[in-house]
Amino acid sequence: MKKLLASLFAVALLVGCGTATSEGAPATTETETTTTTTEASGDAKTYNVGVAIYQFDDNFMTLYRNEIESYFKTLETDDTKYNVTIVDGKNDMAEQSNQIDNFITQGMDVIILNLVQTSSADAIIDKVVAAGIPLVLINREPLGEDGDESYKGILDNATVCYVGADARQSGTFQGEIIAELPDKGDLNGDGKVSYIMIEGDPENIDAQYRTTYSIKALEEAIPVECLDDQVGNWAQAKGQEITANALSQYGDKIEVVFCNNDAMALGAAAAITAAGRKVGENIYLVGVDALDECQEMVKNGEMTGTVLNDHIGQSHTAVDVAVKALKGEAMDNYYWVDYVKVTK
Ligand code: BGC
Repeated sequence: MKKLLASLFAVALLVGCGTATSEGAPATTETETTTTTTEASGDAKTYNVGVAIYQFDDNFMTLYRNEIESYFKTLETDDTKYNVTIVDGKNDMAEQSNQIDNFITQGMDVIILNLVQTSSADAIIDKVVAAGIPLVLINREPLGEDGDESYKGILDNATVCYVGADARQSGTFQGEIIAELPDKGDLNGDGKVSYIMIEGDPENIDAQYRTTYSIKALEEAIPVECLDDQVGNWAQAKGQEITANALSQYGDKIEVVFCNNDAMALGAAAAITAAGRKVGENIYLVGVDALDECQEMVKNGEMTGTVLNDHIGQSHTAVDVAVKALKGEAMDNYYWVDYVKVTK
């Protein structure tokens, strides 16, 4: 079964144009470290919480980290305070590794970590476990050898867990949003859907799975043709640039723009408008995250649909698990939060 899963995983990742090229990481603008401290009085216990985010300059992770901070506040009581320090990894694994070293030196009681690179998961897990600090991994899932939820560093360590959402589900929902349209996305009636794909960071399993599973779901309803597949690294400006180039190259041939996240879909929407095209009339556009502005756009018809990436559910679960660990309670290996399809 494990071998079968491994081959399916390998095949699955080959779906799509297979022409994606990396365009470099988005520029980092925010670099500050956030610290929230509430002075404990009398016998109150203050816990030190270290939160390492892969990059502050990311729409979705900004919502996520702000919610971590405010949710910790709501859990404070007269007896229990949380001193939360949030650091910006600036999309640089060496920088993030130093930040984890600092957290260890500072004696953090628990660490919540959004890895820059999942390929460094073992190195980080080893040092945090050796320091005796519970570790809650979020958002970027290190995958087991079989492409499933069996990462050894997580399974083998009782004080390490992952909190996230299954990106296969978000991809499938994107494909279904198009497949469920009256014309199944085939605006020009030629019997197939011609699309472009804009991918997030290719090292990130969310990007790989969304790329694969969106097309897999659509293909179950209608044949597809991939016109272009490019890496936009989750960034709005890249989404805009890639879409603008593709629209000038392929013009009316493009029927659907798939974006691995909403930030890139916002960029794509701007390029679509600039090219004189209209979502819902002569092109379709889908993203993932359900950022507030994208929910508005879905309502107004400026986006065909998106998929809610529940940052509230995920951040609250991550914090609840961290608090469990602080109390010395056992944690599970994996915690999952569902995606939700968002259409008009
Ligand atoms: C989100 C993206 C975000 C990425 C960061 C994904 O789950 O959909 O918007 O940029 O996580 O790792």
